[in-house]
Amino acid sequence: MSGNKPTFHIGSIPIYGEAILSPMDGFSDLPFRSMARRLGSAMSYTEFVNAMDVVNTHPHLDERLTYLEEERPIAFQIFDDDPERLLRAALILRERDPDIIDINLGCSAKCVSGRGAGAGLLREPQKIGAIFSTLNKELDIPVTGKMRLGWDDDSLNYLDVAKIIQDNGGKALAVHGRTKQQAYRGEANWDAIAEVKAALTIPVIGNGDVRVVADIDKMINYTGCDAVMIARGAIGNPWIFAGLDRADVLNEQVRETMLAHLDSMLDFYGPDRGIILFRKHAARYISPYGLSPEQREQLLTSETAGDFAALLDELALHTVPA
Ligand SMILES: Cc1cc2nc3c(=O)[nH]c(=O)nc-3n(C[C@H](O)[C@H](O)[C@H](O)COP(=O)(O)O)c2cc1C
Repeated sequence: MSGNKPTFHIGSIPIYGEAILSPMDGFSDLPFRSMARRLGSAMSYTEFVNAMDVVNTHPHLDERLTYLEEERPIAFQIFDDDPERLLRAALILRERDPDIIDINLGCSAKCVSGRGAGAGLLREPQKIGAIFSTLNKELDIPVTGKMRLGWDDDSLNYLDVAKIIQDNGGKALAVHGRTKQQAYRGEANWDAIAEVKAALTIPVIGNGDVRVVADIDKMINYTGCDAVMIARGAIGNPWIFAGLDRADVLNEQVRETMLAHLDSMLDFYGPDRGIILFRKHAARYISPYGLSPEQREQLLTSETAGDFAALLDELALHTVPA
């Protein structure tokens, strides 16, 4: 997938590869991002951060914004409904030396979209223009966006919003082919992603329902997009970035990756939080195995990495034929 020739550029930043781990609150932290990047994800996006937290120096920010050099290009994703505070936050974040600042125009959660941030911004295209033009003017790194198709089926304004972002200096646009009202339901609309790609000259990253390796080329061929973003399809299957579907990954490789992932979470979060935060990943790693509810529970409540590894060996996991 990657080679000497960049697949595309975000501003002047070359991007090598066609599949990117999506920003995911609670999942795309340093341990998961860096693992996905090593396996082939073309760049890294942080979990979103609230611009209010940035300007108020919230203590959890360090964890969300720490990254490894090997993750570059790294995009910091921020959300807010206030252009001026987004700018202040972006300037503060710039000091941490990210490659890109990404604006979230897609979060459907009520606490975000309900106050006009995330997908809530789609209802105020003028504000989107103001955000991108201000940040583009004041920052010396590319500003990008990640959006949905509109608030609901009656307000599908994705083409207008996409053009506003481009016209106001946005350097790339990721498009999740759903509305805010759909949240994660129904099928992603790849036709809409194709329309955005045809209307813009900046790179378009398609997103929504890329679940298996074949979907990467399928979406690119269908929509013409420059790359795809993968969120849910990468949880429990980071090998998708290495061109492997879960069924192609040997049990021994699953075991090694799980334990390396756990190790890196223990290092990053400390032993107590690390193992707890790992459980949601573990649940997805083990889902193809036909474990009984008791076995699953035992594994997912292991309190140390040693117990977890010993239980894995005891269970001698085998995938259940599909
Ligand atoms: C648990 C979870 C957390 C997410 N957090 C973010 C986020 O912080 N920023 C963002 O832009 N999108 C976020 N998303 C949306 C995904 O990036 C992606 O747009 C969506 O899941 C569709 O892609 P998929 O079909 O590959 O899952 C999140 C999705 C999930 C499932």
